[in-house]
Order: sequence, then C-alpha cells, then structure tokens
Amino acid sequence: MYYSTSTALQYLFLSLLLHPSIELQPNVLLIVVDDLRPALGVYGDKNAYTPNIDKLAQKSFVFTNAFAQQALCAPSRNSFLTSRRPDSLHLYDFYSYWRDTVGNFTTLPQHFKENGYFTYSIGKVFHPGISSNFTDDAKYSWSKTPFHPSTEKYKEAKVCPTKKGLARNLLCPVVVENQPGGTLPDLESLNAALDFLKYRTNITDLPYFLAVGFHKPHVPLRFPISYLDYHPLDNIKLPKNCYRPPMLPTVAWNPWTDVRHRDDIAALNISFPFGTMPDSTTQKIIQNYNAATTYIDDLIGQLLQKVDDNTITILIGDHGWSMGEHGEFSKFSNFDIATRVPFIIHIPRLSYSEIISNELVELVDLFPTLVDLTQISGSLEICSKSGTNSKLCTEGRSLVPLMISSLHKKKSKGKNAVFTQYPRPGAYPTIKPNSDKPKLNEIKIMGYSIRTSRYRYTEWVNFNHTSFLPNWTNAVAKELYDHLIDPNENLNLIGRPEMKYVTDLLRKELILGWRYA
Ligand SMILES: *[C@@H]1O[C@H](CO)[C@@H](O)[C@H](O)[C@H]1NC(C)=O
Ligand SMILES: *[C@@H]1O[C@H](CO)[C@@H](O)[C@H](O)[C@H]1NC(C)=O
Ligand SMILES: *[C@@H]1O[C@H](CO)[C@@H](O)[C@H](O)[C@H]1NC(C)=O
Ligand SMILES: *[C@@H]1O[C@H](CO)[C@@H](O)[C@H](O)[C@H]1NC(C)=O
Ligand SMILES: *[C@@H]1O[C@H](CO)[C@@H](O)[C@H](O)[C@H]1NC(C)=O
Ligand SMILES: *[C@@H]1O[C@H](CO)[C@@H](O)[C@H](O)[C@H]1NC(C)=O
Repeated sequence: MYYSTSTALQYLFLSLLLHPSIELQPNVLLIVVDDLRPALGVYGDKNAYTPNIDKLAQKSFVFTNAFAQQALCAPSRNSFLTSRRPDSLHLYDFYSYWRDTVGNFTTLPQHFKENGYFTYSIGKVFHPGISSNFTDDAKYSWSKTPFHPSTEKYKEAKVCPTKKGLARNLLCPVVVENQPGGTLPDLESLNAALDFLKYRTNITDLPYFLAVGFHKPHVPLRFPISYLDYHPLDNIKLPKNCYRPPMLPTVAWNPWTDVRHRDDIAALNISFPFGTMPDSTTQKIIQNYNAATTYIDDLIGQLLQKVDDNTITILIGDHGWSMGEHGEFSKFSNFDIATRVPFIIHIPRLSYSEIISNELVELVDLFPTLVDLTQISGSLEICSKSGTNSKLCTEGRSLVPLMISSLHKKKSKGKNAVFTQYPRPGAYPTIKPNSDKPKLNEIKIMGYSIRTSRYRYTEWVNFNHTSFLPNWTNAVAKELYDHLIDPNENLNLIGRPEMKYVTDLLRKELILGWRYA
C-alpha cells in the first residue's frame, strides 16, 4: 500500500536525471484540454486521429486509469490545481472561491511562483468567473496577467453556418476566416503560447511554469471544417451501449441539458428526460468531437515543436464526456466515461519509449508529483483530517515512486481505489433545478463513487449543503459495476445476493474515503 524505504534512493536517481547542473532546473508545460476523455490514438480509441499527442506519449509515462474528482469543469480544475477534493473545497458548482470560503490554500502554479518560477496561464486553466475570483487567481498563482482569447466571447453566439443562416448549434464545423474576428479561441491561445516561448527571455530569466488550456472539444463543437476530412462519417463506430441501462437509478441519469437546448438538437424534439438521440446524430456528434480533438492535437503538435528539451510536459483532460454511452451526451456523472481522463507525463532526458501504467491514479496526484519531479520544495504532506487546514498540503499522492518502478519494469502497488463525486438536486431528473449542474443551495443528494481495479460502487446519499455532510443512512440509490464482465458499466449488480459481500466491503471503503485507499 505505501511506498518502500528505497524511495529516497529513487529520488536521488531522479534528481541526477533532472538536474545534471544547477542551471537546468526544468521548465513545466501543463496542457489542459477541456472535456477531453481518452479519445486518443494512444489510448486505443478507434475513432480518434491524434498523431501529435500519440507522438508525445511515445516518449512519456501514460496513465491509462486516471480519474478526475468531479465531472464538472470548475470543481475538477480547482481540485487538481490545489490538490484538494471537492468536499474539501466545498465546490461542486461554479459559484465559490476557496480563499473566501474554506481557506487560503496554495495552488500548484502559486507554489512554483513562490519557488523561483515564472508562471503564466493561457486560455482555460482555472475555470473563469467566481471560482477563481474573476482573475484566474492571478494575484497568487501567476507572474503575469493570464491570457484569454478575445474571440472566446462568441462561444455561445449564433456563428454556425447552416442552410438556413447562422445558428447556435452543437455541431459547428466552420471556415475560420468567416468567423467573428477571423480566428478561433484556441488558435489565439496557441499564438500566445508560441509568443511566450519565443520572447520569454525578454521578460524573465527564470524557469517557467506555463499552463495552456485549450477550450475544445468542449461543446459547442466549433472547429475548422477541414478536420472533418480525418473523420469520414462512414468510419464512425457507435458505442455498443447506446442506451439507458435498464437498472440505472433515476438519480444517476444526467439529462444532458447543455446539449438539448442547442438549435440543431432542439430541432429533434427529444423528450425530456429520457428521450433518445437518433443514431445518425450520435454518429455526427462522435465525428465532430473527434474532429475537434484532431484540431486540438494539431495545435498541441505546433506548440510542442517550440518547447525545448528541458521541459516537463503534462497533458490532461479535466474530465471525460459521454458520446452516446448509456444514451448520454455529457459529463455530469460518476461513470468511467465521465471521470476517466488522459494523463500523460513527459520527462526530459529520459530517452525511454512509451511507459504504460495501468495503476489507478487521480488528478489530485498531479500537484505532489510535479513538486517531486522538480524538487522545488520538499514533498507535500498529506492534508490533516482535523480541519485545521494547512495552506500547503495534498489530498493526492506523488506518482514518482510509481513512475520509477514502471521505468524499471517492476511491479508496484498504487492506490487500491480512487474517488469521484457528483451532486444532484433530487432523485428524478429536472431542468429547474438543473440536475446536471445544481447550485450549492439546490444540492440535496451526493453521489459518492469508489473505483477499484475491478469494481465501481456508487452510493447516492442525502447531503446537507450547509454542513457539507453526507448522511449515510437510508441511501437514495446504489450502483455496482463489475469491470471484469462489464467494462462499460451497463449492468447494475446492486441487490444481487451473491454481490452482498463485495458491496459491503466497497461501501465501507467508500465511507472511509481516500485516506485509507
Ligand atoms: C494568503 O496566502 C498568501 C501567500 O500564500 C499571503 O500572501 C496572503 O496574505 C494570505 N492571505 C490571507 C488573508 O491570509
Ligand atoms: C477577490 O477579488 C476581489 C475584487 O477584486 C478582491 O477585493 C479580493 O481581495 C479578492 N480575494 C482574494 C482572497 O484575494
Ligand atoms: C524581445 O527582445 C528582442 C531583442 O532585444 C527584440 O528585438 C524584440 O522586439 C523583443 N520582443 C518583444 C515581444 O518584446
Ligand atoms: C415534440 O414532441 C411532443 C411530444 O413528445 C409533441 O407533442 C410535439 O408536437 C412535438 N413538437 C414538434 C415541433 O414536433
Ligand atoms: C444541515 O446542517 C445545518 C448546519 O449544521 C443544520 O443547521 C441543518 O439543520 C441541517 N439540515 C438538515 C436538513 O439536516
Ligand atoms: C440521517 O438520516 C436518518 C434517516 O433518514 C435520520 O434519522 C437522521 O436524523 C439523519 N441524520 C442527520 C445528521 O441528519
């Protein structure tokens, strides 16, 4: 369960590798791709075309079982940027800022800034708005005012060309020159990143921590139309589980509200909450999501060409996205499809080939891992349980010991389990309050989920949004999936007598929580 005492020696090895001389303190490039599930060639997705990310992966550590802590942008991002879980930040929606509500916690970029790095944010890194105090937490986290693309303001505008004029569509392939501003947000972000890499020595001699957040493939799927060429419709495979699982409790269903109100989907008049998407539209959604991902892959390729070989590069998604699996088109759930993310770490001067780790890891692990890789400070301590929260601690675990043992092809034991959660305003899907995105004061139920290498167990329990405490008596609903026979989580095994022993065990581990996993 815990790492061996040879860890110190392993760190020494790593330190020599990363710091052949004092001047070569490595730079850090953190690439965050919005709503990107592992729809990537390197993760074996047959609908994907992502040559640049695949190439990066060929010289990186690739974590195949990495999970976000909540399948919603602001909670997930604040979580991995502070290495604290949604329950510790009291953030399950978009509407609070941790420094004002829970504690003056140090962020990942802030820690680098306070330890001799120049830190800069481009695009969507923190979720904009209240949850980062309308500034991407700039005063604390960044050395320079964060960059936001000017054309991001058109993200919900009527800009998608159709036969009947411009529309507010989900599916939105475009000719870039005809778009407002003659560009797209992610193209602007790429240029800002390239400018920074080119001219940074004009403004600083320090090593950098550069975070670049790409907006696509988040909906609406607006991307240059040419990327459709890589994704002929005939080649698109529909998921095998394009239906609502028969044993799925209603509280677990997320009615994909931010897809249905778009002009092209609204025109289909799909009944709320359980109406089904036509297969032909599902196919187009898969096509457009993958084309938008190829577009981002292309931009990442252009960015990586300009990154020098003294840079630790990390690529993550903030959470997944269902493209028809379970009959859903969204995040907003505890399923693997909504919580599993790509997680790739490239370390300079390690001329290894691709190293795959199937261990369970979490996005909260990113912060302690980067601290250990760069050794900008001592390793982070685990946050105390008492509530006297220290400013700098982690609710994750450094992946460096796992990485070193995978490097030596040794077996290593990571976490026994990982955790995610998702709130609901009630047990039956509603538009108002929005079951997909309830506001804090609307939350009545929390779905707590534990994922082991074999099982996913989820318990939907009453939740007090004032005390932030779950009530584990009289659960609203429960789900159990056995990945050995059901990797897509279609068959809820709860209530089967032969599963009682396993259920009880998982329930106990779920209530104990991440500290004991
Ligand atoms: C929060 O922490 C930062 C440094 O980590 C410090 O500069 C600031 O004064 C603190 N704010 C409060 C209100 O304690
Ligand atoms: C958040 O922003 C407001 C308005 O700019 C500012 O007054 C406040 O100090 C900020 N909060 C923190 C914790 O820095
Ligand atoms: C950076 O410095 C170089 C050389 O001093 C100068 O030519 C260039 O214009 C500067 N670029 C920016 C963006 O400041
Ligand atoms: C949409 O569907 C409902 C029933 O599901 C039906 O009553 C209504 O007429 C339909 N509207 C259109 C525009 O097709
Ligand atoms: C929720 O917790 C608050 C604060 O501890 C308490 O005052 C309130 O009665 C609780 N609400 C319910 C419904 O139990
Ligand atoms: C938890 O739920 C049980 C049963 O519904 C109830 O009796 C108990 O008062 C609740 N506990 C709290 C702290 O609200």
